[in-house]
Amino acid sequence: MKQLAELYQTADWKAEKHVPVIDCADRVKAGEMFIATVSVGKEVAHPNTTEHHIRWIAVYFYPAGEKFPYEVGRFEFSAHGESTEGPNQGPVYTNHEVAISLKISKPGTLYATSLCNIHGLWQSAKEITIG
Ligand SMILES: [Fe+2]
Repeated sequence: MKQLAELYQTADWKAEKHVPVIDCADRVKAGEMFIATVSVGKEVAHPNTTEHHIRWIAVYFYPAGEKFPYEVGRFEFSAHGESTEGPNQGPVYTNHEVAISLKISKPGTLYATSLCNIHGLWQSAKEITIG
């Protein structure tokens, strides 16, 4: 049986369209709001069709030296062209990109995980320092 961690894939986001990319400052001020965006397919576009799309992105913060991570947010992408007219005939598609406003009081690592409906779970991480 695979361990849960083995279900998550990762790769260089510049070559692999499934990797969630976290964009934010490398260093932020303690307790001050900042914006982090997380997107899938930043360099190599990922499809967004009824048959093939990104379902969700979840973001966690793991403070350096602590035992447990904290969930920052979960973002569902619900519209992928579904319609009574048939697949890909619908009027709306949710793009797989989110902007999160947050603040942290300690340095640590942001983790992003994402799910492609047919290519599974993907992850990436970005360290953030305080100063
Ligand atoms: Fe995919």
